[in-house]
Amino acid sequence: MTTIKKIEEMFGNDFNYSFDEFKKEKKIQRRKPQLKHFIWIPSLIYKRIYWILPKILKDIFFYFSTIHKSPNTKIFAKTRYEEFRILLDIKVSNLIMKTIPKDVVINVRKSFDSGFAIFNLSNISEINPLIDNVIEYTNPSHAGAQPYFKDGKEKKISNSFSAYYSFSEQDNEKINSFLEKNLDKDFNYHLSALAGYKCKLTDMNYSLSIVRGENSNSEMHQDTYGSVAKGFIYLQDIGEGNSPFEYLEGSFMDATYRSEQTNRAIINGDLFSSGSTRLRDKNLDNAISRFGIKTFTGSKGTFVLANTSGYHRKGAHNSFKPRIMLACGVERKGIISKLFLNLFAIFKFKVFQR
Ligand SMILES: [Fe+2]
Repeated sequence: MTTIKKIEEMFGNDFNYSFDEFKKEKKIQRRKPQLKHFIWIPSLIYKRIYWILPKILKDIFFYFSTIHKSPNTKIFAKTRYEEFRILLDIKVSNLIMKTIPKDVVINVRKSFDSGFAIFNLSNISEINPLIDNVIEYTNPSHAGAQPYFKDGKEKKISNSFSAYYSFSEQDNEKINSFLEKNLDKDFNYHLSALAGYKCKLTDMNYSLSIVRGENSNSEMHQDTYGSVAKGFIYLQDIGEGNSPFEYLEGSFMDATYRSEQTNRAIINGDLFSSGSTRLRDKNLDNAISRFGIKTFTGSKGTFVLANTSGYHRKGAHNSFKPRIMLACGVERKGIISKLFLNLFAIFKFKVFQR
């Protein structure tokens, strides 16, 4: 029996299967820290400084940073602070289009503008042994998919289950080499267009995602103000009612609309969701009719790549069967880093034609 089938059967018809139960079933030893892990120290210090700063100083000093997801003070929420940096991020991200070869530029432009691209992997079962392994060697986390909505009430959603297992460095490499063999050669162009800076498949990190029921990602939201690429590789056939990924087409481009939603959340004191602004009720209906919603149902091996600064969500789940997929993404970059990376990429493209 394949790992995917095993996981599906483990859940059976049991809605009470809990995250803690799932976690307790394994006794996993902590991995020893290695020298290379110390490169994370500056970034940890940077984040710590951010968290202890007063809100007004965060707004001033972290304007371009990806960790500063939205303005923190009503003073800035009443200005065009957010709209301006969204526009700037789109402009800087768009520079990447100057590095796309002529023969693929029309298709890559479509991905950039819509905010998504779809690929198909016909022999995805080849990575099954890696999925078996990751469940054994790592402990799961919620990875942002919390069992409550981000409305500040923290009311537990019944039957909500989500577990994310991060792959080791070696297994990441194995997944990348599998994908390298099976994806179109243009993949890196689409990835760069969606991330907003020059990047490649080998920059991706993967985790196994097992989800059932609703969670905080069921709410329509943007991840942050600036372009960021995330991918979802389906390991089962995903129909409606089995949590397909859903996306509001081209929504990331509408800086005026997005900043209005974020600013309103901050002014109304909706601090729980204003970072990754959530659309609810009438606002959600309006947004769906404004942009159009794309529901990515698809067979096993469907690979959806999206710019998650556009509005997206985990679609509805009405099945006993958990949704199992590989979630992946590249590092988030702020506007300044994107600018330098893209200018360098343009220089390389013009001089060396690559
Ligand atoms: Fe998200």
